[in-house]
Amino acid sequence: MRIRSFEDYEKAYKESVEDPESFWGEVAQEFVWKKPWKKVLEWDFNNYDVKWFKGGKMNITENCLDRHAHNKPNQPAIIWEPNDPAEESITLTYKVLFDRVCSFANVLKKNGVVKGDIVCIYMPMIPELTIAVLACARIGAIHSVVFGGFSAQSIADRINDSQCKMVITTDGAVRGAKHVPMKDTVDDALIGCPSVKKVIVATHTRTPVSMIKGRDAWWEHEVKLVSADCPAEEMDSEDPLFILYTSGSTGKPKGVVHTCGGYMIYSTYTFQNVFQYDPGDVFFCTADVGWITGHSYIIYGPLASGAQSLMFEGVPTYPDAGRFWDIIDKHKVNIFYTAPTAIRSLMGFGDEYFKEKDLSSLKVLGSVGEPINEEAWHWYNDNIGKGKCPIVDTWWQTETGGIMISPLAGITKTKPSFATLPLPGIQPMLVDEHGVEIEGNGVNGNLVIKFPWPSIIRTTWGDHERCKTTYFSTYPGLYFTGDGCQRDEDGYYKITGRVDDVINVSGHRIGTAEVENALNMHTGVVESAVVGYPHDIKGQGIYAYIICEETPEDPEMTKRDILMTVTRVIGPIAKPDKILFVSGLPKTRSGKIMRRILRKIAEGDVKNLGDISTLLDPTVVEEIVKGAGY
Ligand code: WTA
Repeated sequence: MRIRSFEDYEKAYKESVEDPESFWGEVAQEFVWKKPWKKVLEWDFNNYDVKWFKGGKMNITENCLDRHAHNKPNQPAIIWEPNDPAEESITLTYKVLFDRVCSFANVLKKNGVVKGDIVCIYMPMIPELTIAVLACARIGAIHSVVFGGFSAQSIADRINDSQCKMVITTDGAVRGAKHVPMKDTVDDALIGCPSVKKVIVATHTRTPVSMIKGRDAWWEHEVKLVSADCPAEEMDSEDPLFILYTSGSTGKPKGVVHTCGGYMIYSTYTFQNVFQYDPGDVFFCTADVGWITGHSYIIYGPLASGAQSLMFEGVPTYPDAGRFWDIIDKHKVNIFYTAPTAIRSLMGFGDEYFKEKDLSSLKVLGSVGEPINEEAWHWYNDNIGKGKCPIVDTWWQTETGGIMISPLAGITKTKPSFATLPLPGIQPMLVDEHGVEIEGNGVNGNLVIKFPWPSIIRTTWGDHERCKTTYFSTYPGLYFTGDGCQRDEDGYYKITGRVDDVINVSGHRIGTAEVENALNMHTGVVESAVVGYPHDIKGQGIYAYIICEETPEDPEMTKRDILMTVTRVIGPIAKPDKILFVSGLPKTRSGKIMRRILRKIAEGDVKNLGDISTLLDPTVVEEIVKGAGY
C-alpha cells in the first residue's frame, strides 16, 4: 500500500485505473476483516449507486484500536494539548484509548443506543470527543458530529433531519480567552427535538448546567457503571459509519453519508501516502473534528495507521500568535497539517512569534480547505518549513471522504498553489459548461471525477434524490465537484475555487442560500442576496445586499441586529463581513437575481459589470454601485 518513489506512484496510478478492483482489493487486504468481501466494486453514476467491498464484514474500531492496543499498547495514540498552555497535556496510549472507547461504548448501550441509531456529538476538541466518535463506531451507531461553533437552531436542524436518539456534549468549552456554554446550547436546541431521549454530558469546564432527570446523565458517572469489555459489532462494509452535514448551493445543509469499509480504506491509504507517515512520527492536524478533515485525519486515518495524532483544543492566536509553533516545539511534531486561512492570519503577526521556536522536528507541511495563494505558500515554506519540508496542498471535500488531488510528500515535485496530481484511484476530468471534456494541458474547466473511489459519498441522509441531483445530474454520468480547475502545461491541477453558490470562508463551506434564509428571517428584511468576495485572511468574505421594508433609521444598529439573527440561526461563522442596504436587486425579466453583477460589485470590479441590458431595471445597478462607495 505504501508508495515510496515517483515510479511507485506512476505504477500504482496506472494499476488503479486499469484494474481498480484488483488495485483496491489488494490495498484492502492490509486491514482486519471479520468476513471477506464478495465483490470489490459495483457502481452506476447514472442512477447513482456505489458499493465497495460488497458482503465484507468488519468494524473500523478493530482496525483503529484492537490491533494496535495488542501490538503496541504503550504507544501514544492521541496526544492532547489543552487550550491553556499552563495546563498539562494528556497522552492516551492505544491501550488506554481502547479501554476508554470500549467502556463508553457500553455506556451508549446501557442508555439504549443500538446499531443503526444516530448519535449527535456536540463537543469541543477534547479526548472525549474522539472517544465518543469511536464508541459509536464500536457498536454500529452512526455518529453525526456537529461543529461546536454552530447555533442551537443549527444543532436542532441536524438532529431533526436524521432523528438522532442521543446527544453527547460537555458542560462548557474554552476557545482562547472565550468561554462557550455547550450544554446550554444543546438544551436550547432540544426544545424542538422530540427524537432525543438521552443526553450524556462530559465535565470539562465545570460550568453550572441544568441536568434533567431521566434525560441527562454525567459521562463520568455512567462509565463507572460499566465494564471496559465491549466486542466490536459486525458491520457490513456498506453500513453507514457517519453523517456529516455540509453546505451546498441550495437549501439546508445536507447530511453526507460515509460507509464503513471504503471510508476506512481510503482515509488510511491517503493518510499514509500523502503525508508519508513513518512509525513514531507525531502528526498534528489543526482542524476541528466537527469538519471532515478532523474525521479523516485526526481520528480515522491516523488511528487505523497506528499513528500518534495530536489534538489541540485551542486557537492559533492564544495566548499569542506563536501557539502552533510552541506546540510543534513542545511535542516535536513531524507532520503539520493546517489551512491557508490560519497561515495568512499568522503571517500578519510578524516574525517574532516563530523565530525563537525550535521547528526542526518538522518533516512535512500540509494545507487544506481552500486555495493557498503563492504568498502564503512561500511564507509557510520559508519560515515554517525552512525550505526543507515538502508542502502537500491537498484538495478534497466532505463528499470525497479523503484527499483526492495532492502531492505525495517528498515524492511529487511541488509547485506553489497547485494541488498537483490525482492520487491512485482518482480519475479527474475537466469539462466545459455543456459537459464536454476539455482535453490536453494548459486548459481550464469545471472539475469532475469519472470513476468511483472507495470513500465517495454514498447518499445524502434521507434524500437520495438530492444526492443524485446535486452531484450526478449537472454532468450526467460524472461526479461534479462544484470546483473550477486549471490543468497547466505539466498536467498539474490547480483548484481555482467554487463555481457554484458555495462560499469558502476561512476554509468553512457556507451556502449563499443558507445565509440569505437567515437574513430573510430578520424582522423588516424583505429580500437579500449574498455573494462571496476576496478577503485577505479568510480567503472569501460574505457580502450581503439587503432590501428592508423601510430604510433603517440607524443602519449600524440594524446591521448589528441582523448579525445577531444570523448568529442565532446558523452560527457566528456565517455572519456577513459586509452588509449593504439597497432598494432593489439586479434581476432578469424572469426574476432571477444576477449574482454575477453582485459579485463584481463586491469585488470592487465595477468597471466590468458586463451586459446589464437584459435586466428588468438596469438603474438598480447604478444605485448599488454608488451605495457600495464607488
Ligand atoms: C475547497 C474540506 C483549493 C474546494 C476538505 C472544495 C480547496 C471545498 C482545497 C471542500 C485545496 C478544499 N485547494 N480548494 N487544497 N481543499 N478546497 O467539504 O472548494 O469543507 O470543494 O472539505 O473546499 O470543502 P469541505
